[in-house]
Amino acid sequence: MTTISADTLPEALGAPAREFIARTHRLLIGSERPEAADGRTFATLDPATGREIAEVAHGGAQDVARAVVAAREAFAGGSWAALPPAGRERLMLALAQALEDHAEELAQIESLDNGKPVGLAQYVDVAGTVAHLRYFAGWPTKIEGGVLPVGAPNMLCYTRREPVGVCAQIVPWNFPLLMAAWKIAPALAAGCTIVLKPAEQTPLTALRLGELALEVGFPPGVLNVLTGDGETGAALVDHPGIDKIAFTGSTAVGREIGAKAGRALKRVTLELGGKSPNVILPDADIQAAIQGSYQAIYFNSGQACNAGSRLFVPAERFDEVMGALAEQAKAARLGPGLDPQTQLGPLVSAEQRDRVMGYIDSGREQGAELLAGGEAALTDSGGYFVAPTLFSVTSDELRIAREEIFGPVLVASPYDTLEEVARRANDGEYGLAAGVWTRDVASAHRLAAMLRAGSVYVNTWGLVDPSAPFGGFKASGIGREHGHDGLSAYLETKTVWTAL
Ligand code: NAI
Ligand code: MG
Repeated sequence: MTTISADTLPEALGAPAREFIARTHRLLIGSERPEAADGRTFATLDPATGREIAEVAHGGAQDVARAVVAAREAFAGGSWAALPPAGRERLMLALAQALEDHAEELAQIESLDNGKPVGLAQYVDVAGTVAHLRYFAGWPTKIEGGVLPVGAPNMLCYTRREPVGVCAQIVPWNFPLLMAAWKIAPALAAGCTIVLKPAEQTPLTALRLGELALEVGFPPGVLNVLTGDGETGAALVDHPGIDKIAFTGSTAVGREIGAKAGRALKRVTLELGGKSPNVILPDADIQAAIQGSYQAIYFNSGQACNAGSRLFVPAERFDEVMGALAEQAKAARLGPGLDPQTQLGPLVSAEQRDRVMGYIDSGREQGAELLAGGEAALTDSGGYFVAPTLFSVTSDELRIAREEIFGPVLVASPYDTLEEVARRANDGEYGLAAGVWTRDVASAHRLAAMLRAGSVYVNTWGLVDPSAPFGGFKASGIGREHGHDGLSAYLETKTVWTAL
């Protein structure tokens, strides 16, 4: 493995990103930047070349314990929850502004660390991060209890909504900064303190986020950042000083965290995998449906929990739709995220590429018809590219039709009736998202009601907004992020009875 030295970093990186990457990447605990207690580090790689970008501290159990103490002190000492609500609002807005001021730098760091197109990083990841902080900055001044009409005479009964406490927030690598924002924004608004653990594949932007929070004046200990891997995450989940766990990632790890949280009776929200069905109805605007279905799967190289990875097309329009999607997939421009011409970046890691290629091989072996892609791409680059892939299948039992692939692989099949397609769309363990393309209002909303999914998109795909609840039915998770529901996950309700 070769290391990128300052002079071999991609030219497209601006000076601020370059300067950040060249620093020593330590943990962020309270106001300190310690090495890991046992001195361990790990490398984060450029997925477009396989080269090392930077060494990062690998937090272990001792570091977890220190970070939890820092977060507990910030919580119990009242430096955060006891700030006047407008004080939390002001700091959250200041952090949003700082992130916006550093948007280009953050987008470049994200693009280099994750592989995604830099424009996507700036206009989806960074802009979404800023929007989430601004939306949730509006909440501290609006968290209210109520006075209750209880039956007992001469009794004042009211509720208070109080922060849950210290939160462990474990995020994945597909939208590293944005997933961190989805977690920290409601927690901060509620008055919680945080130990944030970014994914080992993409640790850099979370560290920058933590630094900027301190710079704009967050009290030390409110937002701690522990870089490390699954072991670090597990130690954090196990720590008795954690009151609530929020996790986004694989279903396997989500089940484990859910089981541990159950035993310890910690609060938990889980945002897990998906295998989301996307249904084109016979009367759809076919061009819009094709464009939307293409974006639904290939956006972020298919590394999105709500990717539209199962496409259902009316039998009579199947060949037409397949032809158009295959043509577009074959013409896609793959390249490093920092190249402004790039439409599809590499997958995040060699492991993820191999996992996706394994699924592609299983599709071939189980008899799916390959219409585009099906192979690793740009292999001379050393990067983890996979060509956008399209399979046509006639059975829903194939592994590629049932399991989450998390890569640029679309599995399409024909259907005949609305009832048939609703049944097939719901047949599976997941329920994160679903889509319908139609011009008919009645079928749109009949199907929207029939689909067992946390989000249903009609004539669009994948929209996200800080005010709109997001989360899964069935094995796609527990709880909702965003909006009132997202805030509630960080609040306890206390009922106070007073005899008058
Ligand atoms: P993962 O679930 O192992 O990693 C996600 C986060 O959890 C990372 O920060 C990781 O360090 C942490 N983690 C891992 N094991 C842990 C444990 N035992 N306790 C606490 N934290 C732990 O996901 P991975 O291995 O990176 O990807 C595997 C598959 O998961 C992907 O192929 C994809 O199907 C799915 N995935 C889904 C995501 C989503 O947005 N729903 C995001 C990332 C992956
Ligand atoms: Mg990386």
